[in-house]
Amino acid sequence: MIAMEYGLGVSDAERARLLYQCEIHRAEAERLIDRIGVGPGWRAIDIGCGPLGILDTLAERVGPSGTVVGVDRERRYLDLVELAGVELVEADATATGLPAGSFDIVHERLVLNNVARPADVVAEMARLARPGGYVALQDVDWISWTCEPDHPAWRRLLAAAADAWTGDVFLGRRLPALLRGAGLVDVEVSAHARVWRPGDPYHDLLLRFAAIYRERIVDRGMLSERQLDECVAELTAHLANPETITLYATLFQAWGRTPV
Ligand SMILES: C[S@@+](CC[C@H](N)C(=O)[O-])C[C@H]1O[C@@H](n2cnc3c(N)ncnc32)[C@H](O)[C@@H]1O
Repeated sequence: MIAMEYGLGVSDAERARLLYQCEIHRAEAERLIDRIGVGPGWRAIDIGCGPLGILDTLAERVGPSGTVVGVDRERRYLDLVELAGVELVEADATATGLPAGSFDIVHERLVLNNVARPADVVAEMARLARPGGYVALQDVDWISWTCEPDHPAWRRLLAAAADAWTGDVFLGRRLPALLRGAGLVDVEVSAHARVWRPGDPYHDLLLRFAAIYRERIVDRGMLSERQLDECVAELTAHLANPETITLYATLFQAWGRTPV
């Protein structure tokens, strides 16, 4: 696998964003876990768990007789996990070093759209699942990410951020194919998108991505520094308008079982 830094970094602001994001996606994660039927005694693992991921939901569902493992290659994220009884492993998602066939459910959320070769991660996840065990994926697809009313600055910044992104921002739709490609069967899929208004932290997320990727956007020639500043100023004003709403990226969920 080509080693790639996690493009959004490990700043305090990014850690806070990831914890907020856990709350945003909590209800969908719980629905997914319940639909799969995760219950007491299950052995569960969250790949690329960051500072929390869905470790808390898994721990609650599997109870004291179950096992929960969190994997991430960023020690600084793992150090933030404050959950008793959860085992934390610092490793790359493509080569965890954990025993094959040792989990009833192997889950990842928002990792695949940050890596160069998502299929390598899904192959490792399939290796970790026991025969008949589940592999569950949750990743976004920017297909739906829009603002209403539309604005040229939105479109320019969205295109620039997508170009600067260190993975595939349209990966969500490919999750079922990735599972089938790794040999999973009984593959299912669902998708959800959220609406934000002024005041919601994710209403301005595109501006935050534009700030993080500023250098890459300019270096790659997507926008000059002056154009970027103009777009940011125009979009800041547009998003602050009480009548502007944003429709966020679609969260795809796909899951399947390893053949028995
Ligand atoms: C957007 S965050 C998502 C965190 C968490 N899964 C969640 O949903 O809240 C992406 C996480 O994947 C981790 N990550 C990215 N590439 C990785 C890799 N190759 N191996 C292990 N972890 C990786 C990052 O360190 C980061 O914690």
